[in-house]
Amino acid sequence: MQLPVVTWGLLVLCLPKFSVAVTSLHRMNVKKDLVTMSGHSAGGSMAQTMFVSYSSRIKGIATLSHTFYRCGPGVLPDANSTLQPDDLFDISCTNLFNPLVSELYDPNDAIADILSYFQLGLIDDPKNMEGKPLYVFSGSMSYLFPLQMGLGPAQVFQPFIKNKDMIKIAVFPANLTLPSNKPGLPSCSGPLDALQIANCGFSAAFESLQWILGKKYIRPPSKVLKLQPLLEFDQTEFFYGFGENVFDDDPVMDSIGYYYIPKACRIYGHKCLLHFYFHGCMTSRDVVGPNHVLNSGFLEVAETNGIIMIFPQTRQSVLSTLRCWDVYGYTGDFFATQLGAQVIVIKNMMDRIMGPDDPYDKKPAPTPEAEPADYYTSPKPVKNLEVSPELLRAYEDDEDNVLQNPAPYQDVGRKNRHCTLTRVSPDTVLKRCRPAE
Ligand SMILES: *[C@@H]1O[C@H](CO)[C@@H](O)[C@H](O)[C@H]1NC(C)=O
Ligand SMILES: *[C@@H]1O[C@H](CO)[C@@H](O)[C@H](O)[C@H]1NC(C)=O
Repeated sequence: MQLPVVTWGLLVLCLPKFSVAVTSLHRMNVKKDLVTMSGHSAGGSMAQTMFVSYSSRIKGIATLSHTFYRCGPGVLPDANSTLQPDDLFDISCTNLFNPLVSELYDPNDAIADILSYFQLGLIDDPKNMEGKPLYVFSGSMSYLFPLQMGLGPAQVFQPFIKNKDMIKIAVFPANLTLPSNKPGLPSCSGPLDALQIANCGFSAAFESLQWILGKKYIRPPSKVLKLQPLLEFDQTEFFYGFGENVFDDDPVMDSIGYYYIPKACRIYGHKCLLHFYFHGCMTSRDVVGPNHVLNSGFLEVAETNGIIMIFPQTRQSVLSTLRCWDVYGYTGDFFATQLGAQVIVIKNMMDRIMGPDDPYDKKPAPTPEAEPADYYTSPKPVKNLEVSPELLRAYEDDEDNVLQNPAPYQDVGRKNRHCTLTRVSPDTVLKRCRPAE
């Protein structure tokens, strides 16, 4: 995913205080049946990957400004190829190589993958997704994803969620950004800045959390809000349980992640909600520090509604120069299943926070010194547009729907293949890739 050269000019925003010393994530008293996840850009796909992998443990997800689960061949280019590690994904799932929209990856292939992963015992029973809420935000002016791809998550999950009333699609004339309602941010449809957060007149954090958790749990952020400090935790404790050595010499996740505990949740015994948010490509800690998280709008919603927030962080590695969560197979063939290295690490974090057999079970919640913090304006009503299936179909059927400004079409490595995994014996799984027709 080619991203623009970004400037730091707009990073001077009013921010809550962050960080004390790096701590250990500990057992917390959370409502285990209401664990939710979300993400921006490739983080949105990571939330989908977690949902598919552990649908029995996740109540609902929001995916913001990205495309659908398991888009693309899910393999790295051949060793001798001149392609970048993420190019096969870009060729299949984005408009970077100027394809016709009809040439892009088919959501039905992702649905088939979910079914076959379940048969292989690599994910929870997809029946667990039935009736669970999904929020999909897609910018119709995304420089990377045609609208059809941006709405793909709804297509992929609808057969599993079954009830389409549980799927909220929000389309907005936005670039590939995390929508916010804070003043002083770049315009929603214009070029991105380093934080990839823009003023779209509504808070995606609030809208999406309210959709997946319901109005009963999620009220608009209070106007007079004192935020607690954003904390850092040691992620390396969770780097275990996988075969691939993606965490040895060139770890694909940062040693430090962020988390946030609202004031109300500091009282041990008080049951809080738990939410994981995954940042996007180039908005990880090693690029923008805590600034994407601090400006995301999630802290305000969390403080108001008693949500413990976990913000896991990737880092730059040879196969992931843009710090994207694994959406193209850089951690191995099983990256989008329970065997995916990043999936395992996130699951290890969930187990630490919720697990009954955890050694940290009895450790009380930390009580870092509360610091005064800035607060932001109240959210404006969402002006999003519900996309009807008819409109979506019309978009798909439009033969002239060639993307704008096509550069000469590049056929580089267009083995736009779909790869499947098949268990050929109890301990051998075979990968087969077929070229695109
Ligand atoms: C890569 O190039 C080497 C040397 O030209 C060749 O021996 C090898 O077969 C090639 N590998 C692939 C996967 O094409
Ligand atoms: C969207 O963002 C990209 C990256 O910053 C930029 O190149 C593009 O011009 C933006 N689109 C518009 C319409 O401003």
